Amino acid sequence: MCGIVGYIGNEQAAPIILEGLSKLEYRGYDSAGIAVRDSNSDIEIVKAKGRLKALSDKTNEGQTLIGNCGIGHTRWATHGEPSEENAHPHCSDDCCVVAVHNGIIENYQELKEKLHKNGYSFYSGTDTEVAVKLIDYYYKKYFGNPVDAINRSMVRIRGSYALAVMFKDNPGEIYVARKDSPMILGLENEDAYFASDVPAILKYTRNVYYIGNLEIGKLQKGKLTFYNIDGDEIQKEATEIQWDMDAAEKSGFEHFMIKEIHEQPKAVSDTLNSVVSNGRINLTNIGLTDDEIKNISEIHIVACGSAYHVGVAAQYVIEDLARIPVRVELASEFRYRRPIIDKNGLVIIISQSGETADSLAALREAKSMGIRTLAIVNVVGSSIAREADKVLYTLAGPEIAVATTKAYSAQLIISYVLAIQFALVWNKIDEKTYKSLITELGTLPDKINRLLEDKERIQWFATKFSNSKDIFFIGRGIDYAISLEGSLKMKEISYIHSEAYAAGELKHGTISLVEDGTLVIGVLTQEELYEKTISNMIEVKSRGAYLMGLTNSGNYNIEDTADFVTYIPKTDKHFTTSLAVVPLQLMGYYISVARGLDVDKPRNLAKSVTVE
Ligand code: AGP
Repeated sequence: MCGIVGYIGNEQAAPIILEGLSKLEYRGYDSAGIAVRDSNSDIEIVKAKGRLKALSDKTNEGQTLIGNCGIGHTRWATHGEPSEENAHPHCSDDCCVVAVHNGIIENYQELKEKLHKNGYSFYSGTDTEVAVKLIDYYYKKYFGNPVDAINRSMVRIRGSYALAVMFKDNPGEIYVARKDSPMILGLENEDAYFASDVPAILKYTRNVYYIGNLEIGKLQKGKLTFYNIDGDEIQKEATEIQWDMDAAEKSGFEHFMIKEIHEQPKAVSDTLNSVVSNGRINLTNIGLTDDEIKNISEIHIVACGSAYHVGVAAQYVIEDLARIPVRVELASEFRYRRPIIDKNGLVIIISQSGETADSLAALREAKSMGIRTLAIVNVVGSSIAREADKVLYTLAGPEIAVATTKAYSAQLIISYVLAIQFALVWNKIDEKTYKSLITELGTLPDKINRLLEDKERIQWFATKFSNSKDIFFIGRGIDYAISLEGSLKMKEISYIHSEAYAAGELKHGTISLVEDGTLVIGVLTQEELYEKTISNMIEVKSRGAYLMGLTNSGNYNIEDTADFVTYIPKTDKHFTTSLAVVPLQLMGYYISVARGLDVDKPRNLAKSVTVE
């Protein structure tokens, strides 16, 4: 996610802002910028692509920027490539309004058209520039009142934002506003601060203030004032931050992985909102038209690791809904297999980092064959994103933990959306089914949240098995895909040997490994396969296995077979992966914690495998 920091007080602003931004680097970013002024100077803006050091070098560690008032930003690109031009702060053409933003303006295209009609032009590809010029529009139209201009803009904007704004005509003042994106304000004697997160200002103050959605804060030297959406002044109480710096970077969570597991509802919601508007899927802005979809004869999904597991789930979903042949392959195999692909085929590369060497090579292999390529990527401007013919971005935000969770969940959403759109275009589902599927997708964030509320029960069970020698995951159909991801999470962060098996395959050899007390986790979310998998669970139970069942709410008869059961909320059978994976992520996490391992940086692993 982007990071924002600002300051106004007795000191020079630039060094404080750069220091604050450096404490937010863990949030991930691809460019940075800063705007500084004095009470009688114009606003000076400096931006740089790449690491924060580039910006610091450009400003001689902030020394060349004179002024006691400023705002700064580290950008994690969501709209518009990583570049100096797209970096924040953004400004109106006369630099009357200058702002930084963390979040996603969902209706920025609509607002951009409105502003175009009112004579505005745009220099960047960002949604933030649209927000800045919307504020400028209202500021000029309604006689230059900053609070009023921001309030009117908030009424029009749909999406999430933590905004910080400086107005040329209002020296000595910074205005902040938010909806859903995090922001805190701080006050220490004559010095006032704002930031996306505590670490940026913890060095200067532990007295922080929180503003609610659609509220505004006004920062002046030694003074904070708060307003509601009607422009009325409101009172806020200070909160004292108790965290140390390390805890602060993880927003109070013990590890980035558990923090990112909890960010899944937002990652799913933001990703869904990026491709669905007004209840309909809109893929035209990536250039995937209905005519082009009609022309696709087969799909090859190519990826590595967890991204490959998304592909395995997507194969079942797309084939069941759209009835198009789908083959899913490991990139490291695809790239050397001389694949046979129909000329009207589509190759989909799934990759969180967009830099995985095998996946990039597979993309290049497909392109060398003249096959159309689509990438599902989480990092804007990454190699795979740039080289694929088309790219659909997941909006999971930067993922710090090596073990992927929220990016995996966001990739699933994109694959469901493709399946539904392909099914509609190919007339395999009617309008009613189309709408009901999209409606159901919208319920997933809340259902994931409900699962997270039950995490202590998973934690209790996980610690009982933290000394296991082997852990098996079994399932059929989509439940097999879920088992693959559950097993990978387990082994990559707990170092316990684990295998995922198609439940019907156990009797062909692997069942010989099951001994007294071996933990076998049965995944049973596919109702039509439920009884079959129960039979497989009874097979392993008769050989001494300890059974955990993971199934849909309502299948309570599983408790006659399984020793421990966890349930997921009911959802459409095509989407159960998004829910069932949560308890399995938690299982791996809690066992790793119980074993005292480095959950976020497991041995021998890298977040992005950029070598073969
Ligand atoms: C999953 O938890 C692992 N970190 C790993 O399997 C990962 O999914 C794989 O390396 C693919 O990475 P990518 O999505 O960045 O291409």
